[in-house]
Formats: sequence, structure tokens, C-alpha cells
Amino acid sequence: MYSVTNTSSKGTFLVIDDEPDILDAIARLFRKDYEVLTAQTVAEAWELIESHNVEVVMTDQRMPKMSGIEFLAELRKTHPHIVRVLFTGYSNISDVIDAINEGHVYRYISKPWKPVELRLFVAQAFEFYRSLRERDELLKQLRLANDLLEQQNALLSAANAELKMLDRVKNVFMEVVSHELNTPIAIVFGYTFLLRKELNDNLSSVASKALAGIDSSAVRLKNISNRIFKMLAEESPSATLDLEWVDLRKFVSSLHDQIDPFLQKRNQTLETTIAAEARSILADEDKLNDMCLNLLMNAIKFSYDDQAISLEIAPDKDDQELLTITVRDNGIGIPDEDIAQIFDVFFSTFNSGHHSSGQFEFGKRGIGLGLSVAKRFAEMHGGYIKVDSQEGRGSLFTVYLPIQPDSAITSPHADTHAQHAPH
Ligand SMILES: Nc1ncnc2c1ncn2[C@@H]1O[C@H](COP(=O)(O)OP(=O)(O)OP(=O)(O)O)[C@@H](O)[C@H]1O
Ligand SMILES: [Mg+2]
Repeated sequence: MYSVTNTSSKGTFLVIDDEPDILDAIARLFRKDYEVLTAQTVAEAWELIESHNVEVVMTDQRMPKMSGIEFLAELRKTHPHIVRVLFTGYSNISDVIDAINEGHVYRYISKPWKPVELRLFVAQAFEFYRSLRERDELLKQLRLANDLLEQQNALLSAANAELKMLDRVKNVFMEVVSHELNTPIAIVFGYTFLLRKELNDNLSSVASKALAGIDSSAVRLKNISNRIFKMLAEESPSATLDLEWVDLRKFVSSLHDQIDPFLQKRNQTLETTIAAEARSILADEDKLNDMCLNLLMNAIKFSYDDQAISLEIAPDKDDQELLTITVRDNGIGIPDEDIAQIFDVFFSTFNSGHHSSGQFEFGKRGIGLGLSVAKRFAEMHGGYIKVDSQEGRGSLFTVYLPIQPDSAITSPHADTHAQHAPH
């Protein structure tokens, strides 16, 4: 016969002994602290284990059909989480030690016991059960978190691989486009040249206009192809600077000459100011020129006819080692939401309807390479670009460049140029 002392929400304690008196004594001792189940045979014990959430099992070693150790060894296989305790009166102590060493039994207590000792002993067994459960629960959570992390890692790696692949495809695509465009463009130029030569001065006004149109379209195509090619070359990590001392007055005058035709067509003016202290800068002149041209051409395109644009060069107020080149316009300005992206490659407000190959006409957006190239060039010099713009009011682009970039110390070209700045 087995019995149950029902005090739910307490830990469940199963005691097995073939002597009913001992079972009664133990049940009385523990009924306040645990739900105590008692069984006189192993068969009864199995029934209770199957029907209850037993946490600690304590069994006598001397049982009729099966020893306590054998039973606990079986229990370990089927219910490894139950804490197994053995008590034994006459002791075959070496069997008990083996059982503990083999892990079948958590602890043993010898009969007769003092009630205080037994209480402490059983309390420790329950405590052990709880710490094991907590450990298992923590491990489970850790495993879950780990799985989640692994899944997210796998997703990130996949996304990363895809991005790298797309970037490669983009570069290869652009390389092919810019390369493949060159041949047909050269052929178009060749044919217009031939036609002009063939017809000599006998071109009708329609034919002359058509040829001029073909030529200017081919020039635009060539410009686009060149810019893509340039951007790809500068994106490469091996891109280097060809540093030399650039006389700022000569430089500005050359810039002015280059954009003058466009200023005239838009009836715009360029005001230039060069601070007396700003004489020269150690820079890659071609890149410096490209950088400023891009900013100035933007100012022209995004300003209205008849407006003034300004270019100012001066040492930075806070840092005399820096030169600032400022291009200001009073044109259409840039919406706040676009500011963060205008330096991105191919950003030209991402509206294909706005794209046009126009170089200077009002509001004509290009392929969106100008600012990203300018930013890249500024960074190659150890500098940066800032923009301050208000929609409807105009824009202010400021390039900050070190007057003598650090790379001048290591650049192979630098030694010859860097030693004496022309003043
Ligand atoms: N001064 C400016 N005023 C207003 N908007 C500007 C100005 N400069 C640049 N932007 C905005 O930033 C975008 C990106 O400029 P970016 O110079 O990179 O490209 P783009 O001029 O359109 O084409 P590209 O320079 O390649 O011919 C422009 O399309 C325009 O929307
Ligand atoms: Mg531009």
C-alpha cells in the first residue's frame, strides 16, 4: 500500500521502505515541509513517480526484490532529474560508495538517524534539486539566446555577402558601361568629323545644326563615361595623390576661366575672394580642380538666371593649418531630408525624371557623381566637406583641407615639393 500526504505547492518527496513504521515516522517528520509520498515496494514507487512530479527519492537499500541501489540506478536512466538518496541500516558500505561514485546516488544516510540530521539532509537534497533546475533553465535560455544569435549572424552574413556581391556587380557593370561607351562615342566623333570634311563648307543650316547636336550629345556621353571611370579609379584603395604646391590665385583664375562660358549662358556672376594669408596649398591640383568645379557647376545649375555665386578661400578661423574653400549660392537649396544623402554615389534625389545630362541649365541634375567625387577627393587630402543649405534660400558648401596634408610626409612626390612653399 502506498500513501500520499497532500500538501501541494511544496516539493514532492518519495520515501521507499518495506517497513511501514519507518514510512509513518518519516511522513510525520516531513509532512509540514513537503508533499510526502510513501511506498513499500519498488512497483508502488514507480506508480507514484509516473503520477507525481517527484523531486527527491529516498529509498532503503534493503528491499525485497531489488536493492535500493539497483532501483536508483534504474531511476537515473528514466528520470535523471530526480535527486536520489539512499539510507541503509546494516551496511555494505563499499556498495554504497560505488553507487555514489558511479553517480547513481546523490547521498546516503545510515540508520538509525537523528531527526534533526535527517531534516537537514533532506533539505539539502531539495536545495540541490532546485539548483539543478535553475541551472537547466538558465542553460535552456542560454541555448535559445545562442540559437537566436546564430540565426541572426547567419542572416547578417548572408546579407553581407549579398551586398558585397551587388557592389562587385555594380562596379563591374559600371566598368563595362564606361568602357563599352568609349568605342561607339569615338566612332560618332569620327563620322561627324568625316561628314564635315566631306561636305566642307557646303553644309545646310539644318545639317550643320544636326551635326552640332550629334557632337554635343557625344560629348555628354563621353563626360559621363569619364566620370564613372574616374570614380571607380578613385574608389580603389591604391588611388594616390600627386601633391604639389598650388598657387591659389592662379588656381582660382583658371577655375573662373573654365566655368565662364556657363556663367555667361546663365547670365550669372562669380565673386571670388582669396584671403591675403591664403597663398598656396599642397594638393593634387587635378583633384582640387575637379572638387571645386563640381561645387561650382552645382551652384550654377541650382541657382536661377542672373544670380551671383561666390567662391571664397581663407585659412580656417579655428585651425590655421586648415584652408577653407567655400562655394555659396542663393539658388533652390536642398530639402532637409536629402542633405544626408547628397554625397552618396548616384544620389540626385533618386527621381529619374530629374535626370538630365545638362551641364549648366537650371535645375538639371546629372548622374549624381559630382559631390561623392568631391567628398572622396577632400578625404584623400585628409579633409572633409560640410554643407549648410536651406530649401528655397540657397546652399553653402565648405571644403576643409589641410594646407600641408600628412600624406605629404610619406608621399613619394612630396619630398621635392613639400620642402618650400612658394610665398
Ligand atoms: N548647390 C546646390 N543647390 C541645390 N542642390 C544641390 C546643390 N548641389 C547639389 N545639390 C543636390 O545634390 C544632388 C547631388 O549632387 P551631385 O553633384 O552629386 O550630382 P548631380 O549634380 O546631380 O550630377 P553630376 O554632378 O554627377 O553631374 C544634386 O542632384 C542636387 O539634388
Ligand atoms: Mg554635380
